[in-house]
Amino acid sequence: TVARRQYHEKVIDHYENPRNIGSLDKNDPTVGTGLVGAPACGDVMRLQIKVDDAGNIADVKFKTFGCGSAIASSSYITERVRGMSITDALKIKNTDIAKELCLPPVKLHCSMLAEDAIKSAIKDFRKKRGGDIVHGTPAT
Ligand code: FES
Ligand code: FES
Repeated sequence: TVARRQYHEKVIDHYENPRNIGSLDKNDPTVGTGLVGAPACGDVMRLQIKVDDAGNIADVKFKTFGCGSAIASSSYITERVRGMSITDALKIKNTDIAKELCLPPVKLHCSMLAEDAIKSAIKDFRKKRGGDIVHGTPAT
């Protein structure tokens, strides 16, 4: 079916040509690092964001030690959040990612890893910023 072909194309493309693999300097005060694991399978994802003065994600890198769906999910989310405000990035749901990549239900936890990773990276960034205000949101 068409749906099946789309699933294969999107997931395989992100899996074979992952975007934004790599790392940013975790000691850079404008960089937030998220490191999360999936309890269901033990896979691990690290996602890092670099945030500009306006609170927008200027750069983003990831490394995933996990399955193809986790790699595709992280590659997809890096493309999606680039240029986005951290407030908007916080609203991304794993179900959006799963829907976009047409992941089967058994692979939902793989996209959850990507949602957790971006949230955790933003949290780390905000913690580093201490009491600074980014986009009107207290950086707690
Ligand atoms: Fe082994 Fe995901 S369960 S790679
Ligand atoms: Fe565990 Fe995909 S099987 S992240």
